[in-house]
Amino acid sequence: MTPYTERDVADFFDQTLGHYLGFWDSSGVLHTGVFAAGDPAGDTDYQAAAERTSALLARHAGIDGTCHVLDVGCGCGNFVMYLAERYGCRAEGVDLSEERVKFAQRRLDENGGVYQDRVAFRHGSATQLPYPSDTFSHVVSQDALFLVPDKPRSHTEILRVLRPGGVFACTDFLQPAERISQLAREHVYDRVRWSGGYSLAGYQDALASAGFEVVSAEDLERHIRQTYQVLGSTARERAGSAAEAAAREWMLAFAESCSHIRDAIDRGEFGWGLIVARKPGGTP
Ligand SMILES: C[S@@+](CC[C@H](N)C(=O)[O-])C[C@H]1O[C@@H](n2cnc3c(N)ncnc32)[C@H](O)[C@@H]1O
Repeated sequence: MTPYTERDVADFFDQTLGHYLGFWDSSGVLHTGVFAAGDPAGDTDYQAAAERTSALLARHAGIDGTCHVLDVGCGCGNFVMYLAERYGCRAEGVDLSEERVKFAQRRLDENGGVYQDRVAFRHGSATQLPYPSDTFSHVVSQDALFLVPDKPRSHTEILRVLRPGGVFACTDFLQPAERISQLAREHVYDRVRWSGGYSLAGYQDALASAGFEVVSAEDLERHIRQTYQVLGSTARERAGSAAEAAAREWMLAFAESCSHIRDAIDRGEFGWGLIVARKPGGTP
């Protein structure tokens, strides 16, 4: 297959903003949830699970009020604003989708309040970050870097903008198996313009090759399975009451994809993990 380009990815995320806002989360959150620890399969509250992911990633990254954080692939800016509000830190976001950055900026203008002067959004790519070297104490990312066609280049860029001793922490989609079936290609990969990714071990090797010290790597597969279980059921329910034919069709197609996505996870063709790494050197 011909790999997707950054243009393909940008177009997809520009064009689907309305669909995702209308169905997935009206505030623009678009990432995997961490469901209740005791019984992930019995928990069906996606919003709470998505917020738990943000809390977990912030904790693993070690965010506090002294940090200057960059969220790469920030989408609609939710995690950036969450960090600024919850921890009182400076937080910036960059995303390849101009439409999503505009949405983030609008939300900031409407809700910014006390943290407006500590938050900023920019349109740009992980492969060419629009910031000087050694700027951030932390770089974070939620379910975005898997989409980058040239991953070594984005790793080099993240390392460059981190201060020595700075922390990189992300949740990301994984490609545990080398070979991907046609069904998984169609419903998991092509659906979001994803050419391919790393296994959890491969991710750590890639970061080490780029010059990071890997701190931890955690497999969170059961949570991505439950995310698509919950979203698939929601999409099917909402399709029943959708007034517009186009919205109904989109939701039904998404619900069908969710069932193939769960099968792909069970076959080891799709996974999710949380990785923490450091830029070697002093205290950020
Ligand atoms: C699944 S969404 C996640 C958005 C956000 N992090 C969240 O959790 O809601 C993936 C995001 O990655 C962005 N993205 C993809 N490739 C990128 C790149 N090369 N540089 C920056 N952002 C990118 C997309 O535009 C999209 O907004």
